[in-house]
Amino acid sequence: HVFLLVVMVGMTAAAEVRGDEEYSKKDFPTGFVFGAGTSAYQVEGAANQDGRSPSIFDTFAYSGATGEATGDVACDQYHKYKEDVLLMADTGLEAYRFSISWSRLIPGGRGSVNPKGLQYYNHLIDELTAKGIQPHVTLHHFDLPQLLEDEYGGWISRKVVKDFAAFADVCFRMFGDRVKHWTTFNEANIFSLGAYDIGILPPQHCSLHLIFNCSKGNSSTEPYTATHIMLLAHAEAARLYKAKYQKTQKGQIGINLFGFSFAPFTSSSEDAAATQRANDFYLGWYLSPLTFGDYPAIMKKNAGSRIPTFSARESKLVKGSADFIGLNFYAVLYIKDSPGSLEMEVRDYMMDSAVEMKIMPGNMSASVDWSRGVRGAFSSEDEYPLVPWALQLLLEYVKQDYGNPPIYIHENGLSSPRNATLEDWPRVQLLQSYIGSLLGSIRNGSDMRGYFVWSFLDVFEILSGFKTGFGLYYVDLDDPELTRYPKRSAHWYSQFLKGGESGM
Ligand code: NOJ
Repeated sequence: HVFLLVVMVGMTAAAEVRGDEEYSKKDFPTGFVFGAGTSAYQVEGAANQDGRSPSIFDTFAYSGATGEATGDVACDQYHKYKEDVLLMADTGLEAYRFSISWSRLIPGGRGSVNPKGLQYYNHLIDELTAKGIQPHVTLHHFDLPQLLEDEYGGWISRKVVKDFAAFADVCFRMFGDRVKHWTTFNEANIFSLGAYDIGILPPQHCSLHLIFNCSKGNSSTEPYTATHIMLLAHAEAARLYKAKYQKTQKGQIGINLFGFSFAPFTSSSEDAAATQRANDFYLGWYLSPLTFGDYPAIMKKNAGSRIPTFSARESKLVKGSADFIGLNFYAVLYIKDSPGSLEMEVRDYMMDSAVEMKIMPGNMSASVDWSRGVRGAFSSEDEYPLVPWALQLLLEYVKQDYGNPPIYIHENGLSSPRNATLEDWPRVQLLQSYIGSLLGSIRNGSDMRGYFVWSFLDVFEILSGFKTGFGLYYVDLDDPELTRYPKRSAHWYSQFLKGGESGM
């Protein structure tokens, strides 16, 4: 019952769900781009080459968070970028989302630019533009230079704002003639939560949540502090871009968030209110300052003095600073009211939201449970139920509550066991369904600008290393050449990008 109800809630909030209906690329608005993505540490390799210094992502991998695996070699895109760009062109990608490694470009964190790093990104960007593939560049994908983490504590120190803006300035100046889409932070909200509250991302701070055996930091305030500082760093980079470059370079700058899609667990008014609270805490945390210049009222109320206050200057700087919002969509979570957590004496960010998040057995997007892929090969479709309405629900919420900003779906995809099979039909179905569902949101008025599959290749994955992969292409790690092999999903995406119908 509950599931049906939730589906109905989802459907009434959004437009029609396109499931079996055929569609093709020409059904999308002109200018809507289709691409695929990766991130520097997860794909480049050459971690210790040509002057690159370690980032917090390297430290994380070496801490054992991903077992034995590290990104030292990854897919070696650092050396294989030409081949990869050819593959992208063959596939028909219109855009490639990747990130620039700060510690490769400016190994000291600030100061001199590494000529080898500069050369690498220049080459990569040149290859892409020569093939007519738009570069969509992220500046921080969980990979602050470790030196800055050690020096002043990284994203919980205001000192980072100046260094980040200087790094961004180098990128705009060096690459902005060809790069027209800049994203300051990847999954800013998940980074605040994962890195400073629950310890599943570098630098792994947390104190109240002992599930990951982690006790660094002070999770009662740090997630709030990190968000405040990242908002300021984003806004400062955006201000700089707009003041110095936008007129001549004619690009856009935005920020990326994990696209939580929340649906009420039951039809009670408590769960409805809790769902709104979850949206405020997990998306409004960034979207509200970016749109209105302040945190949602409920966050200020529940977190009290632990959430920083915007000065008038900061509020003005942050408000309106994003030209677009990138959303990574993977899953739906069901929200249950949990008022008890507000009565606890010591609280953290998650408790302040006073909600409980539930994954409905048998009704989740597979990717929400990254470990599922490890458990076994694809078995049945039931194991990978699709929730296209949940993507529409998220888009409708952002449209209605935050003034219909331009949106890119920066990530969407499915994890599977790495060596399972190239016949990845569940991934084909997932892409068919979610891409199709975007047409409903577009008809419903959402300002959609593009869609990127995560990921182009089977990259180094955050918690599972090389056990699972999201890729359109499988990378054979036992082969010294690291040969790439297309999965069924690569063939499907390619025929769609070349004008074919969605069915197969
Ligand atoms: C989130 C992150 O942006 C990316 O780095 C990661 O690999 C995927 N989603 C899947 O976990």
